[in-house]
Amino acid sequence: MTQRTALVTGGTGGIGSAIIRYLADQGHRVATNYRDPDKAESWRKAMASAGVEVCMVQGDVTDPAACEAMVRKVEEKCGPVDILVNNAGITRDTTFHKMDYAQWMDVINANLNSCFNVTRAVIEGMRARKWGRIVQISSINGQKGQYGQANYAAAKAGMHGFSISLAQENAKFGITVNTVSPGYVGTDMVMAVPEEVRAKIVAQIPVGRLGKPEEIAHAVAFFTGEQASWITGANLAINGGHYMGW
Ligand code: CAA
Repeated sequence: MTQRTALVTGGTGGIGSAIIRYLADQGHRVATNYRDPDKAESWRKAMASAGVEVCMVQGDVTDPAACEAMVRKVEEKCGPVDILVNNAGITRDTTFHKMDYAQWMDVINANLNSCFNVTRAVIEGMRARKWGRIVQISSINGQKGQYGQANYAAAKAGMHGFSISLAQENAKFGITVNTVSPGYVGTDMVMAVPEEVRAKIVAQIPVGRLGKPEEIAHAVAFFTGEQASWITGANLAINGGHYMGW
């Protein structure tokens, strides 16, 4: 197996942490960004005590200049970024008629514009080295829409449009670009949905429970593997059967 450097944005969150653990288990060097140094340090220590050394770089994914600097720092510390997982994201749920411009822009910036900012900083290197794996962590709600999430659903749907365009432009450079669309996974983000609303959502999931972060990480590890070289432009739904569009 070739050891590579993987950058997972928003790695300190529920799904991000699981992706980092999976990629580290496969023998890769793993890196993530953070905004809050105190939170990041306690998370880094917890990962280290579980045997995963993570290269930590401060950087806000909504800021293009900060992303450029962040990627250069990761490269200095860990080598060229061959695997990028655009995982950072936020919600600002409210019905559209109540949504203000900041709630719209915050979500578009953190979930979608971040993909431009970070990917732009790694793509030239991947093209020059003729190898790369890029995965967008989108959402079931980018596929089916969600009451209260016009901002988030728009950003998440946009992420797959981004994937399939990049997939076409970069295929001949050995770079694959895919999307993973998780359903409702038991992370802080989902647990922040009011309990009675969440219970109704879980009742719609045929498998009968929330997903586990590891169930998403497993697919990311598959897409980023050496042998997934003929899979590009795919969007893999992992949602317990909650949405079965095709
Ligand atoms: N379909 C139809 N009606 C719905 C509805 C739905 N899915 N959800 C709520 N409603 C109705 C309520 O029954 C209520 O109706 P009444 O007024 O007749 O009682 C009404 O909408 C509430 O409307 P409001 O304008 O008062 O709504 P609000 O501004 O208080 O917002 C909400 C409510 C924020 C949308 C809340 O319902 C909510 O949090 N919904 C869940 C949103 C969600 O799924 N977020 C996912 C977060 S996790 C994530 O995003 C990760 C991922 O990728 C999956």
